[in-house]
Amino acid sequence: MRIGIPVEPGENQPLVAATPDTVGKLIKLGYDVEVQAGAGEDAAYPDALYREAGASIVGEEVWEADIVTTLDTPPKEKRDLMRSGATLICRMAPGRNEELINELANRGITGLAMDAVPRISRAQSMDVLSSMANIAGYRAVIEAANAFGRLFTGQVTAAGKVPPAKVYVIGAGVAGLAAIGTANSMGAIVKATDLRVEAGEQVESMGAEFVAIQEEAEKSEDGYAKEMTQDQAELAAKIYSQQSAEADIVITTANIPGRTSPVLLTEEDVANMRPGSVVVDLAAANGGNCALTKPGEVFVTDNGVTIIGYTDLAGRLPGQASQLFGQNIVNLFKLITPEKDGQRVLDLDDEIIRTITVTLNDGQETSVLWPPPPVSVSVAPQQQPAQDTQAAEEPEKQAFMGGPFAKIGLAIAILLGAAIVLVSPLGMSGNFVVLTLAIVLGFYVISAVTPTLHTPLMSETNAISGIVLVGAILQVNSPNIIVTVLAFLAIVVSSVNVFGGFAITDRMLGMFVKEDA
Ligand code: NAI
Repeated sequence: MRIGIPVEPGENQPLVAATPDTVGKLIKLGYDVEVQAGAGEDAAYPDALYREAGASIVGEEVWEADIVTTLDTPPKEKRDLMRSGATLICRMAPGRNEELINELANRGITGLAMDAVPRISRAQSMDVLSSMANIAGYRAVIEAANAFGRLFTGQVTAAGKVPPAKVYVIGAGVAGLAAIGTANSMGAIVKATDLRVEAGEQVESMGAEFVAIQEEAEKSEDGYAKEMTQDQAELAAKIYSQQSAEADIVITTANIPGRTSPVLLTEEDVANMRPGSVVVDLAAANGGNCALTKPGEVFVTDNGVTIIGYTDLAGRLPGQASQLFGQNIVNLFKLITPEKDGQRVLDLDDEIIRTITVTLNDGQETSVLWPPPPVSVSVAPQQQPAQDTQAAEEPEKQAFMGGPFAKIGLAIAILLGAAIVLVSPLGMSGNFVVLTLAIVLGFYVISAVTPTLHTPLMSETNAISGIVLVGAILQVNSPNIIVTVLAFLAIVVSSVNVFGGFAITDRMLGMFVKEDA
């Protein structure tokens, strides 16, 4: 099948849906790739590089390919150039574009909406919204630093002290976390707030302070926030006012899918900010999180606060944004080309494919498949109230520690221990004391560690097994047969632990190795 990569028809769109690198990967999957002349120019990917990667450079006929891939929905005049039976892959905002979906169905075009990829782990590699938000979060900090006109990092110089910039991020989703990481790496003091309590851990892991709105965890079923209750909104408003008045830079990324963005920074909040401060409103395109934002524009308020409302932040880093978008597309093609033979196969039993397929031409008729059945995602581990968990664990623990079987087992162990001590040579009594203490200590240490940390604990026991192994090797030649047998057993058991540990560690590390792209 032929994949067509047109010049992005949208105004001011410097991105391209495939780079020379991703074209090579599509070709490896068995496709022929046609790139329209000049498609990658604005992202610094000249035609020659695409040709080198194996693509053909074509003209407007790119729209006649079997599969056309763009960033945003092409305008009507370009869609009209597509063949019936072709596939269009791009961001479609299908929830707001019923007309488009009906048109694709009437024209016999299969539509795959890249902005409908569900937020589940398996789909992360295809999530173009996250890829773009990540770049936008980074760029937001760069824009802020540019407008701020002061250092981000604190310095102590011969000429005096320079305080670090204070950055406050509202909304710690993909864009927010990228902004936090960037501002932190530039030396600023960063704070962040999110409706989702589970975001707190991520914020802290990026080196920022989490300013929580609520105590109770807001459970997220689809990876996005829910609208706030009245009480939460009032509490949140106070936090936003207070934090923005203290900050030099406020970056807002709060987003609730399907709704216009909530206004979180009021005119009064901006009036309370210091002159020279900066607000970067990433939600500008969707109404804005700041009451004063002008989408697509930068302006300075009467009290000297710069408000940046760019809606094309990802487009301001077109080379890498195109590469990430293109890689998301490659990952989708890997999923829909199971035989790597250049044939697109849409398996609707796969929840990712089902969710993004808005229209489907099955060779006979074209059906509208939007909206898809909901995909439930639990981004955060479901939290039980602490008391309940403890109460549930307690009887089990008691049964284990105080049950009749445990008592009998303990009695047998004590008798066996006593028997071994009696038949052992006198000089070994010191060793038995150490062994007993080790058992008692080990029991309490292990039972106090949560199961999720048992694997790191295992590495620790590997090291201990190494010591046991050396000791046992030294003892195995002993003239005393009991010592030899025990040493031999110790060698076997600790070897299993050491080598088994290595094998499992190797397997775990394997999970972090990226597949060959
Ligand atoms: P996301 O859904 O991953 O993150 C949004 C975060 O805001 C969530 O963590 C959510 O819990 C939080 N949130 C929602 N309401 C809140 C409130 N009232 N207070 C505190 N936190 C709240 O979204 P993502 O992917 O990070 O995108 C963020 C925004 O950036 C979106 O509006 C997106 O459209 C926009 N964006 C803008 C670009 C630009 O050029 N300006 C480029 C790419 C994305």
